[in-house]
Amino acid sequence: VRIKVDLKERSYSIEIESGLLKDAGIMLAPKCRGRAVILTHPILTDYYGDNLRLSLADQGIDTDIIQAQPGERSKRLQTAERIYRQLAQGKYDRNTLLITLGGGVVGDLGGFVASTYLRGISFIQIPTTLLAQVDASIGGKVGLDLPDGKNLVGAFYQPQMVIIDPSTLKTLPIRHLRSGLAEVIKYGLILDAELFNSVESVLDRLLTKEADMLSSVICECCRLKAQLVSEDERDISGSRARLNFGHTFGHAVEKALDYRLTLHGEAVAMGMVAAARLGIKLGVTPPTVEEEIRDLLNRAGLPVRLPKSLTVDAVLDAMRHDKKAETNKLNFVLLERIGASRLVLDVPEQAVRETAKELIEI
Ligand SMILES: NC(=O)c1ccc[n+]([C@@H]2O[C@H](COP(=O)([O-])OP(=O)(O)OC[C@H]3O[C@@H](n4cnc5c(N)ncnc54)[C@H](O)[C@@H]3O)[C@@H](O)[C@H]2O)c1
Ligand SMILES: [Zn+2]
Repeated sequence: VRIKVDLKERSYSIEIESGLLKDAGIMLAPKCRGRAVILTHPILTDYYGDNLRLSLADQGIDTDIIQAQPGERSKRLQTAERIYRQLAQGKYDRNTLLITLGGGVVGDLGGFVASTYLRGISFIQIPTTLLAQVDASIGGKVGLDLPDGKNLVGAFYQPQMVIIDPSTLKTLPIRHLRSGLAEVIKYGLILDAELFNSVESVLDRLLTKEADMLSSVICECCRLKAQLVSEDERDISGSRARLNFGHTFGHAVEKALDYRLTLHGEAVAMGMVAAARLGIKLGVTPPTVEEEIRDLLNRAGLPVRLPKSLTVDAVLDAMRHDKKAETNKLNFVLLERIGASRLVLDVPEQAVRETAKELIEI
């Protein structure tokens, strides 16, 4: 399946097909004017990176592999600097193609390096986690975390292509698959009730990694994301902002826990329950919605409460420092029903506090 991300001269395609990775060399060759570099993790080098390098070599493309340690904590300036220096020392010029092979961490980090090394080199995303295949690899948001918050340094920098091979999910640890499902459920909630219902009915088959099921869900999410990105590349009109459903609480949780305990999707799962509850308190969201979300997340093995190590103040504090928070205003994407959402500005702090308080595990 080919899905186009329509952005005038920055348009590109998302190619989705099981087994696609073995043809990657042929697909990448036309995009490559010089040497190529694959940014990935050690384990993914063994699983896929070495073969990818061989398939590029078959096309006469000389390719190096640069590795980063797995984990959110690699998404920082220190790692970026090491990569810049490896590129500089390897005499990589502006014709270099950077290929990110991995999850959102490698994609965000590699995309940021590509956006800045020599003022910008081309890059291609080859996402290998469900989360990156449905979300992180598409749309050109690249960046790094600071100790002060997630994604505080970054750019809008579109890839030349996104290559999605759902069969790579076979090796993905189940906890990461569940984490990606949180974002899939998010798309259903904010935009597409039919998607939400279909995840409800095929959840078991997704959790057992049935290839056809995964592929069709990935295609659906990519279509939705491509649409929002085309409408609102730079996240200005509010269209793309809806993708942040569950993320205001979610990012605050991740930050308050120093990016250690929860995976991104797990934090988003908690955040979606919190946002539903907040919406109900504010009279925007119908009362039955929280329960329905909670049930599905539970079945998907995702957390639905905030960790007990958190305090209300820690959550609120982390929220105020989120880059999307305008000075001292709390903005939230809330559900009008399952499948429809909108950005609500300047939500009363008291309601946010109550929500956090009620959802912190006792
Ligand atoms: N740019 C965006 O628009 C956007 C959107 C959503 C999330 N993100 C970012 O994405 C990041 C999270 O990404 P993630 O959830 O993909 O986590 P991740 O990149 O940390 O990958 C998860 C783990 O799975 C391993 N892995 C990846 N693919 C594998 C495979 N096929 N088989 C076996 N192991 C595999 C990785 O080595 C890693 O340890 C966060 O930093 C988040 O901020 C960015
Ligand atoms: Zn997310």
